[in-house]
Amino acid sequence: MTTSVTILGIESSCDDTSAAVISDGYLLSNVIANQDVHKAYGGVVPELASRSHQANIIPVVDEAIKKAGIKKENINAVCFTRGPGLLGSLLVGASFAKGLSVSLGIPLIDVNHLQGHVLAHFIKEKNNPKCLPGFPHLCLLISGGHTQIIQVDSPLQMKVIGNTIDDAAGEAFDKSAKIMGLPYPGGPVIDRLAKEGNPSAFSFAKPRIPGLDFSFSGLKTSFLYFLRDNLVHNPNFIEENKNDLCASLQKTIIEILADKVLKAVRQTGINQVTLSGGVSANSEIRNKFTILAQDNKWEIFLPPLSFTTDNAAMIAITGYYKYKEGLFASHDLAPIARFNIE
Ligand code: KG4
Ligand code: ZN
Repeated sequence: MTTSVTILGIESSCDDTSAAVISDGYLLSNVIANQDVHKAYGGVVPELASRSHQANIIPVVDEAIKKAGIKKENINAVCFTRGPGLLGSLLVGASFAKGLSVSLGIPLIDVNHLQGHVLAHFIKEKNNPKCLPGFPHLCLLISGGHTQIIQVDSPLQMKVIGNTIDDAAGEAFDKSAKIMGLPYPGGPVIDRLAKEGNPSAFSFAKPRIPGLDFSFSGLKTSFLYFLRDNLVHNPNFIEENKNDLCASLQKTIIEILADKVLKAVRQTGINQVTLSGGVSANSEIRNKFTILAQDNKWEIFLPPLSFTTDNAAMIAITGYYKYKEGLFASHDLAPIARFNIE
């Protein structure tokens, strides 16, 4: 008889407090408390984030256990996001996980948040059967802090083969949105407004970076200068062209991403590609990559929307793979703000 493995995952790296339960790779619950407190500041305020995590963590974990229909005695291991992220926020999740591990007498597992985004594709759902990517595959990880192409050789063996040299794709969305006076986070807002706009209305300079690396800070600057120049002649330029600006900017970001993924597929000969991270929620990115895969005869895996932005289910599934390998953490392991995938 095989006994099941039930993992509790805790995610607190930025501004979402989340807890999830996964049993034998199947999702039983995934609870997320978003922090609205940052909206007024146009970005995440670290001190407010850690205070909100402290207020949220007990009810969020409690709800995840209840929704999963299990008792805390059924949990085999507790895992937490070790980094990368905001140190104060990470400390809340790490300390809580350590306390729970001691009180329940179960192993503690540390998880790299980026590896969690990559493995979000392996979360199984009873009511939503799907094909899982094989190995090796390429993952385009596009989030608020990272833009990377990762060669994934197995659940726990992966290497970064392309990286941003400055801003992340999510920052290109968020910073450009801020320039236009749109609320934070700007990515979903631009996605929505772009649907009504003409993507060919304006064109913005694309970077010329060799290899598989990305750059987005030049795009942000050229967007800023373009608006500044046009506002001189027409103070209502942004208001009158908002949808076209969003659509054109979004198109440029997608082209930058697509160029490098095409190159990575050609270079590695690996023809299964996954998208992950918050920016992979973008509807046009999902459309364009689906078409790109069809045209170039590779396979694309799009994560369900609930696993694109930060969530504890991706931390729990990574913890599940580490549990199977007996990769446990000691209780004196400290969170780290900067944490690479290898
Ligand atoms: O993965 P994530 O939740 O947090 C990080 O680990 O960074 O990603 C957050 C990022 C933000 O930059 C946000 O603007 C972006 O994901 N995002 C989107 C969309 N939804 C979230 N960007 C473009 N289109 C969207 N629909
Ligand atoms: Zn993330």
